[in-house]
Amino acid sequence: MSFAFQVKNFDEYKQAYEKSVADPEQFWSDVAEEFVWRRKWDSVLEWNFTQPDVKWFINGKLNITENCLDRHLAKHGEQPAIIWEPNDPNEQHKVITYNELHFKVNQFANVLKNNGVKKGDRICIYMGMVPELPIAMLACARVGAIHSVIFGGFSAQSISDRLKDAGAEFIITCDGAFRGGKDIALKAIIDDALVACDFVKTVIVYNRTSIPVSMIKGRDVWWHEEIEKVEAQGNPVVHAEEMDAEDPLFILYTSGSTGKPKGVVHSSAGYMVYATYSFVNVFQYQPGDIHFCTADIGWITGHSYIVYSVLCAGGTSLMYEGLPTWPDAGRLWDIVDKHKVNILYTAPTAIRSLMAYGLNPLEGKKLDTLKVLGTVGEPINEEAWHWYDEHIGKKRCPVVDTWWQTETGGIMLSNLAGVTPSKPSYATLPLPGIQPMLVDEQGKEIMGNDVSGNLCIRFPWPSIIRTTYGDHERCRLNYFAAYSNLYFTGDGCYRDAQGNYRITGRVDDVLNVSGHRIGTAEVENAINMHTGVLESAVVGYPHDLKGQGIYAFVIMEQLPEDAQNMRADILQTVNRVIGPIARPDKIQFVTGLPKTRSGKIMRRILRKIAEGEMSAIGDTTTLLDPAVVEDIKNGRV
Ligand code: WTA
Repeated sequence: MSFAFQVKNFDEYKQAYEKSVADPEQFWSDVAEEFVWRRKWDSVLEWNFTQPDVKWFINGKLNITENCLDRHLAKHGEQPAIIWEPNDPNEQHKVITYNELHFKVNQFANVLKNNGVKKGDRICIYMGMVPELPIAMLACARVGAIHSVIFGGFSAQSISDRLKDAGAEFIITCDGAFRGGKDIALKAIIDDALVACDFVKTVIVYNRTSIPVSMIKGRDVWWHEEIEKVEAQGNPVVHAEEMDAEDPLFILYTSGSTGKPKGVVHSSAGYMVYATYSFVNVFQYQPGDIHFCTADIGWITGHSYIVYSVLCAGGTSLMYEGLPTWPDAGRLWDIVDKHKVNILYTAPTAIRSLMAYGLNPLEGKKLDTLKVLGTVGEPINEEAWHWYDEHIGKKRCPVVDTWWQTETGGIMLSNLAGVTPSKPSYATLPLPGIQPMLVDEQGKEIMGNDVSGNLCIRFPWPSIIRTTYGDHERCRLNYFAAYSNLYFTGDGCYRDAQGNYRITGRVDDVLNVSGHRIGTAEVENAINMHTGVLESAVVGYPHDLKGQGIYAFVIMEQLPEDAQNMRADILQTVNRVIGPIARPDKIQFVTGLPKTRSGKIMRRILRKIAEGEMSAIGDTTTLLDPAVVEDIKNGRV
């Protein structure tokens, strides 16, 4: 599809930006007109950032799946909606047209109905990267159920915490997931999670890897058997549920500075409008383009830029089941050539890890269909930016560095491919509708250019977080309380002399490991659950491949005799409590932590030690016990 809201050159960008600030309601109303609604909105926006309470397209009615599927059928029904590339290069790939996807979503919506799913029910999805994952999400949206996708790297304990928080009574999972050389036993992990969740009524299991699974009578059903029942019923048409613009579309859990992940809630209409607007503009999507986002759908990037925006734009989304470096470091490039990919969107971590293999894996790869390259999830260092630009884009393809968050729903700061200028390691300029500002610790605006501060947004955009599920006060405290009348991102930011934005990293206690957000408090809680641990403090440190590594300082009741063994045991506990993504890279056993007289841990000092910058530790005289710092320095691992 083409959209009138696609800006085509720098002047159009500037005009759109100015209009979006001068008259945001008219601006977004014009954009929203290009979507399919059951009923148009009465007014465009009501908002305050104090409660907070933000509503877009008030009293508008729609179902996002009619925008993702139905509207494309008449003209583009036979166009590929999803191209699926399996983990194993020898397995056949799949192409699913819009007609087929529509049919499959309708079928699975019937399965949900047959199993008693109703509008507003929360459904947890814990699957590998198979086409049935977006099918399950869209089927939930079709019947008005709220999906909560959980990334496959989270443990049973994390899943059960999220199930309880969301009150999810339904689960959709797979027997297992292929990732690289591994077969991850997803259903077994779900079974462990459900030991403490007897409120779960139904688990629907898709057969992907055929590993043995236990199926509990009265609770667990097979996806394919449920589909057979629907076929026997004659595949009845499921009427897409009419949703209010503000009805929740999904919940996605993300880490913050407290110990417990928050369920970020996105709305039906605002999310759809902004995700699609940003997709069409940032990547300059043209009809027929093949878009390959390498993220996992378990994260917001996959929700927004594998599933919802690409389909709303009538595009073709390539999804890949496996890992970029498996079976070898040329795999991504083979996929690009095989499927004639035009847009490649990946994370700096993936670029750095591929860079480490040198140029051999690129031999014989054409990469000549590529038009646009994108990065997301963490700051990209200049070296990786140039490598991507030179060796993958062959200096022909604009590189877009897209800054955004789970809470923002879509890309907020980025150059627009070929439309606005790029600058290595800079996210550059705000998208139309986004009003960034920098503030100092007191919340005073930092004006002018060539300045640094904390990044805030002063005006709502359609896909702003609506609430944290079940706890609105938490949403207020996390994002709207630090500075009055502003959304606070938690990121530090530099604005250069030309007004380009460069994200410098989190200023709160959130780590970004391989582009994944992990709260230090979460990791500490997990470590503290290990027997014999008295206290721990976790900080990030620069890591060549992952961006940030996790460094844990741990006080034990007794210093372990076999430190190596104890480290392995603690890692196992972190694996159990959160999942492999939160495993510390380094664990140092210490006898004390640097604390102020009031008992607060001085993380600044620990960060410096973890970074190896001993000379930058600064004044330690205000500490309760300054000697502790010397001990920690000497024992650095
Ligand atoms: C970081 C991922 C620098 C940032 C979409 C943000 C980035 C957090 C960039 C959100 C970027 C994301 N440059 N840093 N282009 N993109 N970040 O919620 O710290 O998983 O706050 O969303 O990732 O991570 P999340």
